[in-house]
Amino acid sequence: MDTSTLPKLHENAKDFMPINGTDYLELYVSNSKQAAHFYKTAFGFQSLAYAGLETGLKDRESYVVGQDKIRLVLTSPLKSGTEIGKHIDNHGDGVKVVALWVDDATYAYNTAMEKGAKSYMEPRTDEDTDGAVVRSGIHTYGETVHIFVERKDYNGTFLPGYRKWETPDYNPTSTGLKFVDHMVGNVGWNRMNEWVDFYSDVLGFTQILSFDDKDISTDFTALMSKVMSNGNGRIKFPINEPAEGKKKSQVEEYLDFYEGEGIQHIAVATDDIIQTVRDLKSRGIEFLKVPDTYYDVVLDRVGKIDEDLAPLKELGILVDRDDEGYLLQIFTRPVEPRPTMFFEIIQRKGAQSFGKGNFKALFEAIEREQELRGTLH
Ligand code: FE2
Repeated sequence: MDTSTLPKLHENAKDFMPINGTDYLELYVSNSKQAAHFYKTAFGFQSLAYAGLETGLKDRESYVVGQDKIRLVLTSPLKSGTEIGKHIDNHGDGVKVVALWVDDATYAYNTAMEKGAKSYMEPRTDEDTDGAVVRSGIHTYGETVHIFVERKDYNGTFLPGYRKWETPDYNPTSTGLKFVDHMVGNVGWNRMNEWVDFYSDVLGFTQILSFDDKDISTDFTALMSKVMSNGNGRIKFPINEPAEGKKKSQVEEYLDFYEGEGIQHIAVATDDIIQTVRDLKSRGIEFLKVPDTYYDVVLDRVGKIDEDLAPLKELGILVDRDDEGYLLQIFTRPVEPRPTMFFEIIQRKGAQSFGKGNFKALFEAIEREQELRGTLH
């Protein structure tokens, strides 16, 4: 017996849930039309698809915008008393669906259910003249769900039921955003390990990193985080929970305002973070600020980097390192009235996971904003 094959076999056995990447994110928002305009104007997304009254829907309207591999579906109700409306009433604007692109949505569903998932949508096939898409769904933390999307027999713009949305007179240029790098969930007290186990047991993810409250704390507040990744590393889900501190932490603030567990931030990748952030700022996107002193010692911490420090400092871009390389990242302020969801812009230069240093810098930056909001007490 050739034992050299064992680790590989073991890996294959563990990765029982192959996922090709993030398919789309659906946000329930109070005004899908204006949200679509915001993501186009401010973030450089393009018009992709539409579903609503004009496609025969009676209760909702969705605009789909895309940039490279990123697709956002922005959905609003058209009348009162709907599930979407209740979601918005409870949570404000937020992510409802994190859709995962798979080769077999029926297998993915059946496997997840066997391993203990809670059903959101049984496998269903939708067809139009461009082909067929199979989708199925399971619940995750809070009211958030995962939908498995199988689109190998489909050539249309987005999904059956949507028609192409074209705005020939208004198509802002891209800001260089390429794909969803990771998505972070905030969960309640002592719930992190429960959801770590869920992603491990139900979706075959492995834990690639852990930060405890000593890694991520300030004088006043703390949090804990574990990072789960699927087999090919294309899906990364850090999961945060609050930790005891003298004052209320950012995760608690999120849980209070979102009124439950949910997606805290969506990280999107770029190949040129300096250009992308300059562009986003010029379009009105507001970023968290780090003190100038961050840059006094950053190179001592992360070593040599390709970029000049001056533009990083000017724009407030953070630098961190793991075993394999470094990464550059920056965080927007929340993109809705409640201090809940925000975006991260990230450029990886070899690093495949996350460093410790920026967690703290991010944490302190959010804490300064909490102070301004009067929620740090
Ligand atoms: Fe992040």
